[in-house]
Formats: sequence, C-alpha cells, structure tokens
Amino acid sequence: MRRPRRNRKSSVIRDMVRENEVTLNDLIFPLFVMEGQKLKSEVSAMPGIFRFSPDTLMKEIEACMKLGLRTFALFPNIEESLKDKYAQESHNKSGLYLKTIREIKSNFPELCLMTDVAMDPYSSDGHDGIVENGIILNDETLKVLGRMALAQAEAGADIIGPSDMMDGRIGFLRNTLDGSGFTDVAIMAYTAKYASAFYGPFRDALNSAPKLGDKKTYQMDPANQKEAMVEARLDYAEGADFLMVKPALAYLDIIKLLHDNFDIPIAAYNVSGEYAMVKAAAQNGWLDGQKAMEESLLSIKRAGAQIILSYFAKEFALSHKM
Ligand code: PBG
Repeated sequence: MRRPRRNRKSSVIRDMVRENEVTLNDLIFPLFVMEGQKLKSEVSAMPGIFRFSPDTLMKEIEACMKLGLRTFALFPNIEESLKDKYAQESHNKSGLYLKTIREIKSNFPELCLMTDVAMDPYSSDGHDGIVENGIILNDETLKVLGRMALAQAEAGADIIGPSDMMDGRIGFLRNTLDGSGFTDVAIMAYTAKYASAFYGPFRDALNSAPKLGDKKTYQMDPANQKEAMVEARLDYAEGADFLMVKPALAYLDIIKLLHDNFDIPIAAYNVSGEYAMVKAAAQNGWLDGQKAMEESLLSIKRAGAQIILSYFAKEFALSHKM
C-alpha cells in the first residue's frame, strides 16, 4: 500500500520533501511616505503599518535592511492642496515623492527601489487617469505617466511599477525610458490588476479613493480569467520585465495561469485588504496571525509568484532572520 504519511513522519522528512518555501529574497515591502518631520502615523485598518515622514522612513528602511529585506515599493501620501486634474505634483522634482526617492537611494545605494507610476495619489479626481466629463482619457494619460516615470528614473528608481491599467502604457514607458538613456530601469507591470474591494485600506492610507465613480473602466472584472492572458501578452510584447497579479489571495488561479504561460518572473501583490483581514481576525483571537501570514505567503508562492509584495514583509523578516 502506498502510504503518503511516511513522507510526513518527522519534521526532518517534512523539511526534506517540502516543495515550496518563502524567503526574504522573494519579498518586496511597500512603504508609505508623507510630508513632515519625526512623524509616524498608523494606517487605520492596517495595524503595524505606518505612513512615515522622510526622516523616520530612513530609520524604518535601515531597520528592515538589518532584518534582511532589500527591496521596497514606495507610495506617497500627497497633501490635498497639491492635487490637481493632471497630477502635476507627480513630476515636481522638489516634491515629496521624488525627493524621498533621491534620499533613499543616496542613503542606501545597495537596496532595490520600486516606484509607483499612476496618477491617483496626486489626482484631485482620485483616478489613475485624466478624467474628462466622467471619462478616463487613455492616451492623454500616457503622457503624464511618461513624465512621471522619467522623473522617477532620474531620481534613482530601480524598477518602475505602472499600477494604472491604461492601455499601451508598458510600451510607451519603455520607449520613454530608453529614449532618455534609462535602459537599465526595469518595469514591473501591474498586468492583471482587478477592480477589487481589497484596496480599501490602501486608499485610506493615501486618501486616494475616487471622488466619483469607480475604477471598472480600467481595472479588470474579477469574473475574468482569459482576459488576464490578453493583458499579459500585451505587457510581455511591450517589454515588461515582470508581470504582476493583484490582489493575490483571491486570484491564485491567475498567478498560476501567468506562471504557466510566461517565462519572465511573475509577481503578486498581497494587498492592503488581505493584510487587514488577517490582522483583524488575529486581534480578535480568531486565528493565529503568524501561521495565517505564513500560509498566505506560501500559497502565493506555490501558485507561481516568485516575487510577493506584502505588508507582512517586515513581520515575516522578524521571524525568519537569515
Ligand atoms: C493605485 C493603486 C492601488 C493600490 C496600489 N496602487 C489601489 C487602487 O487601484 O485604487 C492598492 C494596493 C493595496 O491595496 O495594498 N494606483
């Protein structure tokens, strides 16, 4: 009789036959920066996750690097008065975001910094594109994204992450970067980004929720799987270095689909709402937060994501020092 339990008999054997493992090399830690000094304010619905002023952010990064984390994704919380229809603050060289990118890369040249390309943190409409009469203008938005990406590359970004879901933006951004000599700046495409309820806590963190309507004309319908292949083929052909699926846990089938069909690294974004659910249940004593974190990250890796963006990265690093 074949007895599969023999391979589960002891922790030595279990460790030997284990098929997947999450390591610190797989993780990207998203960080929020806001204006000010000596500030650290916790995001509601994200216990343990803070918006940092630039000075305290540097300390946080240093602490994370000591734990073995080496890749970070930065998002800005922009003051309401600086937002406008065209997200002009996004390419203001002396603005919060670009200044912080320069400061991070000058303090920690060895880390890998991923930056966010999308209008919503700077948009008075709270959308990822230019809004005209309630319509999101695709090709006009590309020009704004191009300026933003270029400014981020100039400031020192290693990887740019277009999270906007406009059509044609990967090719447009690749050409823009290459045209200015930034051939070494990589693009992690938010390839299959779904119109999801799980972004709620993130929008609170940045105060970036849409003022009118929703994001369904650019983010994907959660009902669709094949459409992810359409997006992935385009992003691949347009020159993406990584394909990302977002959110992660409710979209493991999409991660697997892209993993099985493409030969470039697949990333997944374990988003704010996925973090919030585990934290809320753990705080209530309803489940073991540590174990739920481990199992969530492992499932994303097992599905085929080689890279995981997760708010759990620091907590995971604390318990898995290399
Ligand atoms: C928007 C953007 C969003 C996230 C990252 N970039 C939210 C949205 O589309 O409204 C969500 C990340 C998270 O929930 O953790 N460009």
